[in-house]
Amino acid sequence: MSASLVAELRAACRNATVWDAAELAARDPGFDARNFGASALVRPRDTEGVAALVKFCAERGIGLVPQGGRTGLAGGAATSAGQVICDLGAMNRIEEIDPSARVAIVEAGATLGLLQEAAAQHGLDPGIDLAARGSATIGGMVSTNAGGIMAFRNGTMRHRVLGLEAVLPDGRVFSDLTRVLKTSAGYDLKHLFIGAEGTLGIVTRVALRLDPVAGASAIALVGVPDAQSAQRIVRHFLRQTGTRLSAAEILWQRFAALMQRTLGYAPGSLPLEAPCLLVLGLGADSMEAARAALEDGLAAVWDQAGIIDGLVASSDAQAEAIWRLREETEQIERMHHLPPSFDVSVPGGALDDYVARIEAGLKRVDASYAPYVFGHLADGNLHISINTDGPVPHERHEAIEDLLYEGLNEAGGSFSAEHGVGLDKRDAYERHADPVKRELARRVKAMIDPGNVMNPGKVVG
Ligand code: LAC
Ligand code: ZN
Repeated sequence: MSASLVAELRAACRNATVWDAAELAARDPGFDARNFGASALVRPRDTEGVAALVKFCAERGIGLVPQGGRTGLAGGAATSAGQVICDLGAMNRIEEIDPSARVAIVEAGATLGLLQEAAAQHGLDPGIDLAARGSATIGGMVSTNAGGIMAFRNGTMRHRVLGLEAVLPDGRVFSDLTRVLKTSAGYDLKHLFIGAEGTLGIVTRVALRLDPVAGASAIALVGVPDAQSAQRIVRHFLRQTGTRLSAAEILWQRFAALMQRTLGYAPGSLPLEAPCLLVLGLGADSMEAARAALEDGLAAVWDQAGIIDGLVASSDAQAEAIWRLREETEQIERMHHLPPSFDVSVPGGALDDYVARIEAGLKRVDASYAPYVFGHLADGNLHISINTDGPVPHERHEAIEDLLYEGLNEAGGSFSAEHGVGLDKRDAYERHADPVKRELARRVKAMIDPGNVMNPGKVVG
C-alpha cells in the first residue's frame, strides 16, 4: 500500500488513530506475529468511524481485518501486506448496565474483564469467563462465539447475546440492539455475525444478558484416576441445591506437571500427582459456606469416585495458585515454540477413551509425540498441544488432525470448539465440516460481502 493511500486513509478517517506499516512493526502484535502484517491500522472512535473505514476499503477493494484483544488462537486476526486493520480498542465503553433488566450494552472493544467489573458493581456477571479476560474483547468473543469456563451452565457467547449492531461490508449498519430474551420476529440474523470472525461485518455494539453473582466462590483441586471419576464428582455438585458449580476444569498429568515446573511451584505444594486433576469452583452465599459445601461434597463422593487426593483452597492466594496452574497456558509456549494446538468438543463424556486413543495414535505419527491435554470437563471441550516446535510440515499436520478429529462429527462433537476457524483451521474446515453447510456458508458470504472485503481468507476462505 502506497504512502499516498495511507494519507488518504488518514483523511477519510479523521477522528481515528492511523498507524502505517512502520508504526505497526514497532508494536506488540499480541499472540500472533501475523496480526501486524497489514499495511495500516485504523482505530475508529465510534460506529460512524467504522462505517467510514469500511466504505473506504470497499470502494478500493482493500481487505479489512477487525481486531480486538489480539489474543485469539486460530489466526482470525492475522493480516498481510495490502490489508488494513480495524482496531476496536478505542470503542471500549460500557454504555449501560441495567440492573433490573439484567442487561449490559457495551461497545465491541470493551474487554470481558472491564464488563465483569462493571457488572459486579450491581451484583451481576456476564455469565461467561475465560483465561484471557484481561485482553479478550466482547466483539472478538462474539465473533468467535467464545465459550470458556462457565459455558456448561450458561451457554456460549451465542446464548449470552441479546442483540448486536454491526457495520456491513457496504458501510450500512445492521442495528438489532434487542435487549429482551424473547423475540420470535422472523429470522434471527444477529446469529450470522456470532462466530463469523468478522467475515460478514464488524460487530460494533452488543447487548448482553447478565446473571446475579453468588456471594462467594471457593476452589478445590482434586486428584482423580480419570475423567470419568471427575465427571462423577461434577454430577454430584450439579445436583446440590443451595450452591452453584461455576467451574469444572480438567488437567491431565503431563499438562499439570509442565505447568507446575514452568510456574516454579515447589513439589508437593499442591496435590498434583494424580493422573487427572479437577479444578472445581463452587458458589454459595458466603466463602465459609462455599468451602464447607466443597469439603462435604468431596467427602460424600470420595470413595465412590475413587478420589486420590484433594484440597479446598483455604486462602485467596492458594485459590489463585490453582487458577494459574490451569489458566497460564502460554507456559506451553515457553517449552515449545508454536506447538500444534487443537480445540475439540468431545461429546457424550467419552473423554478417557478419546485421550487414550489420541495418545496412542500420536505415538504412531511420531514416537516422541506426547500431548498436553486440559480443558473444560463439563462440556467436553479439550485443548490439546503437542510437545514439539511448530509449525509441522503440512502432511504431518493433516495426519495429526485426522487422528484428533476422527469420528467427532459423526458423534456430534466439533473440531473447533471455542477458538474459531480463522486461518489456522481453514484446512480442517474444508476437510471436516459438512459440505452442504460449507456451500451455504459460501453463498451467505457472497451475498453479504460480494467484494470479499471483510476479513478475506478467513473461515470460509
Ligand atoms: C483456555 C483457552 C485456551 O481454556 O481456551 O485456557
Ligand atoms: Zn478454553
